[in-house]
Amino acid sequence: MKRTPIVVLISGTGSTLAALLEASREPDCPYEVVAVLADTDAAGLEHARAASIPTQVVRLADHPDRAAWDRALAAAVVAHEPQLVVLAGFMKLVGAPLLEAFGGRIINTHPALLPSFPGAHGVRDALAHGVKVTGASVIEVDAGVDTGRILAQVPVEVREDDTEATLHERIKAAEQPMLVDVVRRLTAAR
Ligand code: GAR
Repeated sequence: MKRTPIVVLISGTGSTLAALLEASREPDCPYEVVAVLADTDAAGLEHARAASIPTQVVRLADHPDRAAWDRALAAAVVAHEPQLVVLAGFMKLVGAPLLEAFGGRIINTHPALLPSFPGAHGVRDALAHGVKVTGASVIEVDAGVDTGRILAQVPVEVREDDTEATLHERIKAAEQPMLVDVVRRLTAAR
């Protein structure tokens, strides 16, 4: 079976990437992770290296300005010819060059029930607001901050004694199978 190539972008510990990689080892998995890119020396790149998947770090600081970094990031992704680009804890906004190359084929996972609590601190902001239920969302990426079409959501109850860390762990446990499902669905359909 020819699998659909996907590229994953990360910034952090890569537990979401690890879930995508684990699912990709199942014989009926419709996608293959062909490269993992990061904007920083993310610890999560280790998951890709351990699986002998090509990695690349495209640092903002190595480019004269944001526009040049946006172009470099887009070129790095295009080089792997993916059908789908998955932001899995990628903490930068993607710019016009990547959106133009893959419009509608970039998805992001976010640790809150959008449109509530967009941005870099979805878990902290939900906790600070005092919501009793939060969750995770998988969205299509557009030019806004977490404004794209919602593809899937899962609720997670907030407990009285939750900290940002405990809540985020439970969100990730619900978020990762949801993301794997969406990626499987989108890549099977291509
Ligand atoms: C995930 O919970 C993801 O939703 C979040 O970062 C975490 C990545 O964890 N993304 C965002 O907050 C994007 N705004 P990981 O590094 O362990 O995969």
